[in-house]
Amino acid sequence: MAKSSHAQWSSRMTFILAATGSAVGLGNIWRFSYLVGDSGGAAFVLVYLLCIALVGLPILVSEWMIGRRGQKNPINSLAELARKNGSSQAWMIVGVSGVLGAFLILSFYSVIGGWSLSYTLSSLTGDFSGQDAATIEGLFGALLGSPGMLLLWHTIFMALVLGIVAFGVNQGLEKAVRLLMPALVVLLVILVVYGMFSGHFGEALSFMFAPDLSAFTGGVVLAAMGQAFFTLSLGMGIMIAYGSYLGQEVKLLGAARTVIILDTVIALLAGLAIFPIVFANGLDPSEGPGLIFVTLPIAFGSMTAGWLLGLIFFLLLTFAALTSAISLLEPVVEFLEERSPLTRVPATVVASFAIWGLGIAALLSFNLWDFTVLFGLNIFDLLDTVTAKILLPLTGLGAVVFVGWVLSRESVEKELGLSGGAATAWNIAARFIAPIGVVLVFIFSF
Ligand code: PHE
Repeated sequence: MAKSSHAQWSSRMTFILAATGSAVGLGNIWRFSYLVGDSGGAAFVLVYLLCIALVGLPILVSEWMIGRRGQKNPINSLAELARKNGSSQAWMIVGVSGVLGAFLILSFYSVIGGWSLSYTLSSLTGDFSGQDAATIEGLFGALLGSPGMLLLWHTIFMALVLGIVAFGVNQGLEKAVRLLMPALVVLLVILVVYGMFSGHFGEALSFMFAPDLSAFTGGVVLAAMGQAFFTLSLGMGIMIAYGSYLGQEVKLLGAARTVIILDTVIALLAGLAIFPIVFANGLDPSEGPGLIFVTLPIAFGSMTAGWLLGLIFFLLLTFAALTSAISLLEPVVEFLEERSPLTRVPATVVASFAIWGLGIAALLSFNLWDFTVLFGLNIFDLLDTVTAKILLPLTGLGAVVFVGWVLSRESVEKELGLSGGAATAWNIAARFIAPIGVVLVFIFSF
């Protein structure tokens, strides 16, 4: 996407594809399912769905609106709008913390992207064919235990992201999203059907959808809210940047609905695919970040032509991870380009190199540096926790408060094409429900 003359999306469709490409990624499949398993299932899913609808939707629309009105990068868009509306320049912090969040997230995201690449190769070479659960767990353990392998895959993944962003070929990828996203959905559906026949589907259903009251703990609620931000790419300036390329004719609420439905459906399908296999094989749902890498290969290993399905699945997952990762690198590069003498390509190299370096610390948390640094967390968990549970919600809170309270109410209603009851509903959501929701989750969990 060219940004010198502040270009615009060529169509509403390109915009939706780019936003979906950013939203749908490892977060939907890897992170969603491991958190569901780790947080006891249905309570997490329920709070997550509530957060998507009541907090995610207003914040997504708010971020797009800030970008579209500001017509600049996230930091300058906020500064400009704040000035125009007679508010403090301190609103720029929302943009700055977004860039920081993107930087931190990409460091560990790339490590998991590397796992997905590694599993693509393992599927191709038939490593999972006919293997039992214990062997497949062993394979994953061996990957985690090898800093060299993790580094290799993390490096390849980051190099791919760097190459794509440096050469500005994101647009081609966005077109591919149109084809590959539906393919991912089809594959997930195949896995869900497999789970219905060969897994413990009923158990998975009640695990995911029948909450038990005692499970609603502060930790679970905070994790679910963090996941809502993570999966919709909120609180990182990314959606503000995407909004800045958006023409006036696009309806923000309709676009948000499309992106959110796709994103949520993919996450729920992933859960329905994974948990029947977990229960059928007596695996531990709370096994952590390795969950999909242990369960899905078991299914692939026991299906006819499973190696092929596995290959396609991990390729699609890697692709989804790449489109999210480039959207994470973009704001960091843009920031460097604007605030340092560096031009695009060197800025991309410098940003990628720094992120890659931090990623090494993250991947060593699985082996050599398997120790606690703070609050009982290792470096990997700390990066994940600080970003998803603190930084993103705070930044997103800033965005929605800005739109709800700083921008004039009439202009916002006009921009959204709302009047009467719908306008009231929007105002209640953006001014009260979303901000208070975020704050309540914080209070409840501490
Ligand atoms: N939303 C992406 C996912 O679910 C991850 C991401 C987070 C991308 C934040 C951009 C910004 O995988």
